[in-house]
Amino acid sequence: MTERLAIDGGRPVREAMLPYGRHAIDEEDVQAVAAALRSGWLTTGPKVPEFERAVADLTGARYGVAVTSGTAALHAAAFAAGVGPGDEVIVPAITFAASANAALYLGATPVFADVRADTLNVDPDDVAARCSPRTRAIVAVDFAGQPADLDALSTIARSRGAALIEDAAHALGAEYRGRRVGSIADMTTFSFHPVKHATTGEGGLIATDSDESARRLRRFRNHGLETEFRERDARADIYSPMVDLGFNYRITDVQCALGLSQLSRLEDSLKRRAEIAQRYRGELGGVGGLTVPAVAPDVRHAWHIFPVLLDLERLRVDRRAVLIALRAEGIGVAVHYVPVYWHPYYQARNYARGLCPRAEQAFDRLLTLPLFPSMTERDVDDVVKAVRKVLAHYTSEDAWHRRSRGEGGRA
Ligand SMILES: Cc1ncc(COP(=O)(O)O)c(C=O)c1O
Repeated sequence: MTERLAIDGGRPVREAMLPYGRHAIDEEDVQAVAAALRSGWLTTGPKVPEFERAVADLTGARYGVAVTSGTAALHAAAFAAGVGPGDEVIVPAITFAASANAALYLGATPVFADVRADTLNVDPDDVAARCSPRTRAIVAVDFAGQPADLDALSTIARSRGAALIEDAAHALGAEYRGRRVGSIADMTTFSFHPVKHATTGEGGLIATDSDESARRLRRFRNHGLETEFRERDARADIYSPMVDLGFNYRITDVQCALGLSQLSRLEDSLKRRAEIAQRYRGELGGVGGLTVPAVAPDVRHAWHIFPVLLDLERLRVDRRAVLIALRAEGIGVAVHYVPVYWHPYYQARNYARGLCPRAEQAFDRLLTLPLFPSMTERDVDDVVKAVRKVLAHYTSEDAWHRRSRGEGGRA
């Protein structure tokens, strides 16, 4: 007999819900923000370039251009890559919608590429197959914090004359074949949203080695103006010429002060994330009904999230039932991500279902387990216990027979 699930009236593994992610703010962060507020600069002050330098240094890039979000970073990168009306931009099917929306903002067309079944990162062969003479950029997403196959994707991008934009919203601190994410693609975008590795509240940054891209990115975040406020002020210029149609994507000094303080703990938080992931891989790897995604041997995974794939053939219920049962046990599981083109906005624009079969098959099976640096060993024990409990129940014969006889089972 398997243990009675909380959803069937049994005792939950834990009372208080454990979220899938949680930010961490300490007293040093609070002091850093207070000091910025007292500094006389709220925006376009010295904390912005200081933060940009710190992120560029830790990623090994020559330049960092900070903006208001990871989404703004993607928009700016696509602009700097010259993406415009009539162009196509290749984007993985499994990602957050923002990775694809950047192309739409510029009047271009996102073209979705399928993912690999083992890592859920974009499949370079499928990217190559979907390139056309109109391909202007390839967006590579480092899904869950694992770098995409950047060498293969760079080769494809170069041979097509397209830019490689790496969406590393999940991958601050990750490495690929001994190189740091941020120093590999033409432009690499990061997000500093609270669930990410370091936060500025909301924020983003583009890392690049290219002088020209850095110049275009800086203009784009500042209305397309050729000079920034401090330069203009120092030269007593009457006005700054607007040369591009840019936006106001300027991040504040207050946000950058928080980001700098957060970065000082990045290495510890990456280590803690890796420890938790290691425990999950060790303790859930052999559990029936579930597969943990593969990790390539030549990467440092940043473990932004911990996705698992359900073996639906071995379960008697679907993913939604498992999600609801785990939440009843106090484990705040989530799903990352629905294939972007399944969103109603994209469905209304003629993206057919079936476009990327491996992504669609993975989506039906995906679940994200809680993973954040302040999780205790006890929290990790609870997740392991709940996953084992729920999956044992939904794979066992007796649970199936009891449910089919109507003996308690809302699933
Ligand atoms: C893969 C990916 N790209 C882009 C973004 C957008 O970042 P932001 O929320 O900072 O705009 C996210 C946010 O979660 C993301 O997960």
